[in-house]
Amino acid sequence: MPLKSSVDHYGAMPAALHWLTALAILFLLVSGQIMDGPNLGAILPMHVALGLSVGALTLFRIAWFVVFDRHPKPVAGVSGMQHLLARFVHIGLYAAILVMVASGMGMVALSGAAQQIFGGGALPDFTLLPPFGVHGLVSKLLLVLALFHIGAALWHHFVVRDGLIGRMGFRG
Ligand code: HEM
Ligand code: HEM
Repeated sequence: MPLKSSVDHYGAMPAALHWLTALAILFLLVSGQIMDGPNLGAILPMHVALGLSVGALTLFRIAWFVVFDRHPKPVAGVSGMQHLLARFVHIGLYAAILVMVASGMGMVALSGAAQQIFGGGALPDFTLLPPFGVHGLVSKLLLVLALFHIGAALWHHFVVRDGLIGRMGFRG
């Protein structure tokens, strides 16, 4: 399967990046919710490392489409309105991911606690820092967009049966 996308199928590169980052983001949303109080020191190093990786992969994914690749054409049978809504949600997802990474980096930078996060030691109260408010709020927006997106993908798959999820699959 080619790395680049065709008119009706995502390429192996964007498909791999989609599934890898989708899984990592679901993991980050869950780990963010459960890392409270006594858990924080144990979970935060993984949260930060995974979050930074998602940031790098997302920048690469955006650059990939800007420089090397084109998005497939809209799947057959969708209205102009539906296509516009999908585009809007996809751009919203990309934007929300980048804001999450930037605000996360902002918290680490402002707290000056990178050493404590990875090397052990008392952690500051991140919730007092201004980027925490952005991080918490945008994480809820990201969750809503992701649920809407997954719902739409499942609706295409099971109700419309237009093979949409296969466009993001790996085929020989
Ligand atoms: C897509 C990427 C990310 C997602 C989805 C995500 C998700 C979350 C969520 C849901 C929370 C809990 C917010 C709340 O309690 O209201 C959280 C907290 C936090 N995240 Fe992230 N995060 C991401 C990236 C990052 C990055 C890159 C960093 C650091 C460089 C980071 C550092 C933190 C910190 C320091 C907290 C606060 C922990 C606390 O004291 O409660 N996050 N994150
Ligand atoms: C079970 C979970 C998921 C399924 C089944 C799924 C399915 C899909 C499918 C089929 C497409 C291509 C739509 C088309 O052909 O036009 C797509 C695109 C996309 N998905 Fe997902 N997705 C899932 C989870 C996620 C998550 C968690 C995120 C991010 C938080 C995400 C972000 C995106 C983005 C940004 C695109 C647009 C790709 C582009 O054209 O640049 N997806 N997804």
